[in-house]
Amino acid sequence: MKVHLVGVGGGHPDQVTVQAIEKLQQVDVFLVADKGDGVGDLAEARTEILRRHVTGDYRVVQVPDPARDRKPSDYGTAVTDWHEARARAYREVLDGLPSDTVVGFLVWGDPSLYDSTIRVAEQLGVEFDVTPGVSSVSMLAASHRIVLNRIGGPIVITTGRALQKDVAAGADNLVVMLDGGLACRELVGSRPWDIYWGANLGTEDEKLVAGDLDDVIDEIASIRAELKARHGWVMDIYVLRARR
Ligand SMILES: C[S@@+](CC[C@H](N)C(=O)[O-])C[C@H]1O[C@@H](n2cnc3c(N)ncnc32)[C@H](O)[C@@H]1O
Repeated sequence: MKVHLVGVGGGHPDQVTVQAIEKLQQVDVFLVADKGDGVGDLAEARTEILRRHVTGDYRVVQVPDPARDRKPSDYGTAVTDWHEARARAYREVLDGLPSDTVVGFLVWGDPSLYDSTIRVAEQLGVEFDVTPGVSSVSMLAASHRIVLNRIGGPIVITTGRALQKDVAAGADNLVVMLDGGLACRELVGSRPWDIYWGANLGTEDEKLVAGDLDDVIDEIASIRAELKARHGWVMDIYVLRARR
């Protein structure tokens, strides 16, 4: 059995690379995590990507996503348990397929960034390859027309959960992902920060805000809430850079 993990960018069919299309074309069965309610737009985006780019026959198999502990006492262990449960669910489906089936996983953005698919494939013990995709980090930088690093300097890619710890450790140029609650609000008033924020990048409803964190945080919070009310979900990401 061959398994292709294919990064498909931010959801717009035009962001799928030629290399990714070549992989998608080889796939017989796409396995997709069925996350339940609230991701209707994402399911539509996936359907459109396959409709636009795959000409041959294929099947899409929805694999119910295992329940996840959202407030665990130990975050690392909870995530590992969840990856294992996910791998078991996929294993059951793979065991029911003929051994010469080519299986594909569509991965949002790039598979190397905050995505469990590579770890799950490792746990499955299958032979797999990875095709890179346009990440939300690249989309954010392009939409704001910025370079992520200062000249010759580092950039820390982190999560809302880890932001305070990273800043306390000295990071002053960061990309923040997976932040459901605008963790950057806690830095308001601490020192001058510039923020470059983007939500639902690559979609028709892409929103961008840039400016002094203290000045624009309320505007960002209100646009974020409005997007969430309209779509049932919002995905956002930002660069936070201390002004020198
Ligand atoms: C589970 S991670 C997946 C990241 C993905 N592998 C990538 O390369 O962008 C989800 C996070 O990525 C960011 N993200 C993904 N797609 C986005 C989009 N279209 N607009 C803004 N942020 C996005 C958000 O920070 C979101 O919380």
